[in-house]
Amino acid sequence: MAMLTWKNLGAYFLAGGALVVAVLLLAKFFKPASVPPPPPASGIYRDSTQSVDVRIEDLLKQMTLQEKIGQMALVEKNSLKNPDDISDYALGALLSGGGGKPDNNTPEGWKNMVGEYVDISKTTRLGIPLLYGADVIHGNGNVPGATIFPHFIGLGAANSPTLTERVAQASAEESAALGIRWNFSPTLDLPTDIRWGRVYEAFSDDPGRVIRQGAAFVRGLQNSGVLATAKHFVGIGSMTWGDSSNQNFKIDQGLVPDDSEALTNTYLPPYEAALDAGALSVMAGLAKWGEVDMAANKYLLTDVLKTDMGFEGFVVSDWYGVYEITDSTYDATVTAINAGVDMVMLPYDYKQFNSDMNKAVTRGEIPQERVDDAVRRILRAKFAMGLFDEGVWSQPGLEVMGSDEHRDLAREAVQKSLVLLKNQGSVLPLSPHLSHIRVAGSASDNIGRQTGAWTVEWQGIDGNWLPGATSILSGIQAAVDQKTTVEYDLNGDFTNDELADVGIAVVGEKPYAEGWGDNPEPRLDDADLAAIENLKKTSKHVVVIIVSGRPLLITDELPDWEAVIAAWLLGSEGEGIADALFGKSSFTGTLPLPWPRTLEQLPITTEGQTQDNTAPLFARGFGL
Ligand code: BGC
Ligand code: BGC
Repeated sequence: MAMLTWKNLGAYFLAGGALVVAVLLLAKFFKPASVPPPPPASGIYRDSTQSVDVRIEDLLKQMTLQEKIGQMALVEKNSLKNPDDISDYALGALLSGGGGKPDNNTPEGWKNMVGEYVDISKTTRLGIPLLYGADVIHGNGNVPGATIFPHFIGLGAANSPTLTERVAQASAEESAALGIRWNFSPTLDLPTDIRWGRVYEAFSDDPGRVIRQGAAFVRGLQNSGVLATAKHFVGIGSMTWGDSSNQNFKIDQGLVPDDSEALTNTYLPPYEAALDAGALSVMAGLAKWGEVDMAANKYLLTDVLKTDMGFEGFVVSDWYGVYEITDSTYDATVTAINAGVDMVMLPYDYKQFNSDMNKAVTRGEIPQERVDDAVRRILRAKFAMGLFDEGVWSQPGLEVMGSDEHRDLAREAVQKSLVLLKNQGSVLPLSPHLSHIRVAGSASDNIGRQTGAWTVEWQGIDGNWLPGATSILSGIQAAVDQKTTVEYDLNGDFTNDELADVGIAVVGEKPYAEGWGDNPEPRLDDADLAAIENLKKTSKHVVVIIVSGRPLLITDELPDWEAVIAAWLLGSEGEGIADALFGKSSFTGTLPLPWPRTLEQLPITTEGQTQDNTAPLFARGFGL
């Protein structure tokens, strides 16, 4: 090693300096948050007596680029490499995807998990609270023990904004109790094709019903401190069968025709109502508008939604949607952010997002003003939901989870969501004093089927397992006289040849979510049809209850059935069915969408126009 002399001291200095620079650079790239901390935060943004605008500007001007980029990231919690990344990447939001559960999958486990993440965010330099989001679309379905309400299609059938608002409020309580202050709901999609796997997530194909139910849902959530998301922007439900860009699917994630008249008259009004009700986030759908991905659609996201409609909240992308724009993550990010996406849902790789954003802003390909605009919008929602103001808003206790009050409400929602399609000879209501009832069919004693997907797992779980829930069969058993014999057999294989007073067939679909539920011919399977036939042979009268996420093709069978009820995906409170069967409640639900007669009629436009100009089996609005 060379001796240290006055002559080579300069060289040592230079080398040392270069080393320091190199280390700093490395640190910058490998640990984004270790850039030297800027001056400590002032308190104006923490002062709840200041206006939201003042608080936003005060906070924004103190934020580094890293902190801004962090606010624009929504990371799926299963992809979080290390909880410390919340502070290292200054992450603004986390989500649980369908089934994104903690190891301890109980309300306590959820509360601890979310609490831990939020606490980390509060220890960061500026202490910007993390927003935790989930699909609380029919109650807090991810969590065993939560009250599961009917999926939206059932609320659409009930068509009561008051009921919908109460359901939203109860759902908000059961999510806020766990620290989940953001709900990816309500869905404002308008389904026009029953072959689509997401029909049940929508209230109706009628913009009028969706306007009323959607706005009510937004109010119910946000008045309870939970941020609502109007989704999936926009026109989703009008895709064409066979046009999906996802090779596993047929219509989900497909193509919405670029139709400006439909946009103005049909698709946008539900969003206008949701924004009027105060919705501060909008999710860009996983579909193309004409040729352009929603997440890349500057016209729709910026010109229409933000400029024309005056939306002041933020646009969040859906799942991997941004990266479907193009293969390069960098180009996709630049395109999406410049198009108007403010927060990117990141199911897999947030580090890539961080580095793409850094690069794009440094190069000027994403303007600094665009970043500031996005962050302002996100902060506005966080301030509006009171996330910064502890003490002003109080977190509900865990006792709200699956409480009697919420279960009663869910039961009421079931009663009101039922649509009586046929009642020949006034078979219904039944007397609770009948001496002999037979029950059969795949959804009779199967909570997984009556709750549908987005229940504990993304795709739901077929079978009888959900804690605290009541099956339709148990509801029937509990409703009848002590002396009534209720016999049950899944397939309706009853040996006794004395006819029962009535046979109740509870038939339907297996749970499915999104494109996995795209189905070329939605109908009852052979086992359920056989169960109905068996009941007909062994009972004096038969009532058919259809538990499904959409109308099923029943045209051929209907003439042979005496009474038929559309029960949708009713959730955890199966007694609601017995209430209606035995006359404790009356049938008030009406079809939220037309019930097709044949496949050839599909799609049926939101005005009720079938493809072959024939009448549907039952028109929208029908219900006895
Ligand atoms: C769905 C959204 C949902 C998101 C997060 C997406 O696949 O399209 O509706 O909010 O996942 O679970
Ligand atoms: C997630 C869902 C999401 C879906 C999208 C699933 O793994 O759990 O939330 O909607 O992926 O493909």
